[in-house]
Amino acid sequence: MHEDQIRKLLDLLRYIIGILIVLLILLFGSTFYLYFNPDRLVPVRVGNNSDKQLQEKAEKTTLLNSELVEGAGLSAVLTNCTGCHSAKLIAQNRATREGWLSMIRWMQGTQGLWDLGENEEIILDYLATNYSPQKKGRRQNLGKIEWYVLER
Ligand code: HEC
Repeated sequence: MHEDQIRKLLDLLRYIIGILIVLLILLFGSTFYLYFNPDRLVPVRVGNNSDKQLQEKAEKTTLLNSELVEGAGLSAVLTNCTGCHSAKLIAQNRATREGWLSMIRWMQGTQGLWDLGENEEIILDYLATNYSPQKKGRRQNLGKIEWYVLER
């Protein structure tokens, strides 16, 4: 082979290797970026729950249960509270902040509910705001009643 041809071949090889290296850097770079970018973890970072299946189940349930009131913290509630039962069970209840806390403690003590971490405050705020006893699901008791005798 001619010396010239060999040089051209080597140049071509260098060129190809260069492109491959750039591609590899891009591939690793984007993989790392996606893996460590916290914004990717939408919508909420879930307490200490690393159980992926439970999260997936919760997301599915979420789609089926939109009956919870819209409000700050809703996504934390949906991710942490709809894995074991429907959101309906929550929406049906009314309680004070302490009441909600004790329900959460009860589930943690007996039902395997995980430590909610920093989401606990968010969830309690949401529940106490939107599902407090003041917002009555039922009609109020009758006040001032005037009884009268039915005529036959
Ligand atoms: C690990 C499973 C699990 C998770 C997660 C969970 N719960 Fe529960 N929860 C239960 C079980 C089990 C019951 C009892 C269900 C029944 O009585 O049919 C229950 C019952 C309830 C009740 C009804 C209590 C009553 O006195 O009737 C409410 C309200 C409730 N959960 C709210 C929540 C909220 C809010 C969250 C999120 C912080 C949550 N749950 C997350 C397991 C769970």
